[in-house]
Amino acid sequence: MELRMLESQQNQLDYKTFLSLLLQDELDARQVRKIQKLIRDARFGQELTLENFDFTWAPYLNRTQIRELATGVFISQGEGIILVGPPGTGKTHLAKAIGHEACRKGYTVLFYKFHQLFAELLRADSNGTIDRFLNKLIHCDLLIVDDFAFKKIDQKNSEFLYSIVDARYGTRSIILTSNRAMTDWMNVFPDPVIAGAILDRLAHQAHQIQLKGESLRKKLTTKNRKQDL
Ligand SMILES: Nc1ncnc2c1ncn2[C@@H]1O[C@H](COP(=O)(O)OP(=O)(O)OP(=O)(O)O)[C@@H](O)[C@H]1O
Ligand SMILES: [Mg+2]
Repeated sequence: MELRMLESQQNQLDYKTFLSLLLQDELDARQVRKIQKLIRDARFGQELTLENFDFTWAPYLNRTQIRELATGVFISQGEGIILVGPPGTGKTHLAKAIGHEACRKGYTVLFYKFHQLFAELLRADSNGTIDRFLNKLIHCDLLIVDDFAFKKIDQKNSEFLYSIVDARYGTRSIILTSNRAMTDWMNVFPDPVIAGAILDRLAHQAHQIQLKGESLRKKLTTKNRKQDL
């Protein structure tokens, strides 16, 4: 406000211009607060963005494809993304970075680790808040499930997962990351029929991105050590 007053005196701005600048500042501040809230509500944990994703560490990736996904068009089209590859190759980083970009575009995002999602579903089921929780999982613009098919889940949880995936199918996006090949995902479900129904919906029209190579965790430790010297 003070800065704007000084600016208007120095540049002899008329009252209308001064007011419209103030209004624009207020709108900008609101927009920033809104994005910060969306990022907080997504529960990403560690802040991993495209700005701190080094493409030279994953030269095989199609940068154009990643940048296009970061525009959020896949969300408006209800498409999924599946990131598969060995440990430490950047799957979680990319999933969070794309989620982060989605928040910047105003989309609501929820980030869950596979096992954490099912622990919370069971908790909600036992304390009577399951409908509210399922509703949240079904209606956010983008749902990210990290470490998909990490370990076996029971019948109840696979039914919860089916209802989420089925309700979102074709209209609301899901990003999955996994270090298991998609051909192994079937094995974590107790019932092959539900498994087939879930996996078929998840894979249909999803952008599949294969990550490769050695774990970058070691490289990162070396880089950080060098920076500390
Ligand atoms: N291209 C990259 N540029 C910068 N940092 C990267 C890159 N790829 C990975 N990292 C960093 O390396 C670490 C491991 O990456 P990440 O957690 O995304 O791997 P992951 O594929 O999800 O592994 P896991 O299967 O074990 O969960 C993280 O700290 C991440 O920020
Ligand atoms: Mg990961």
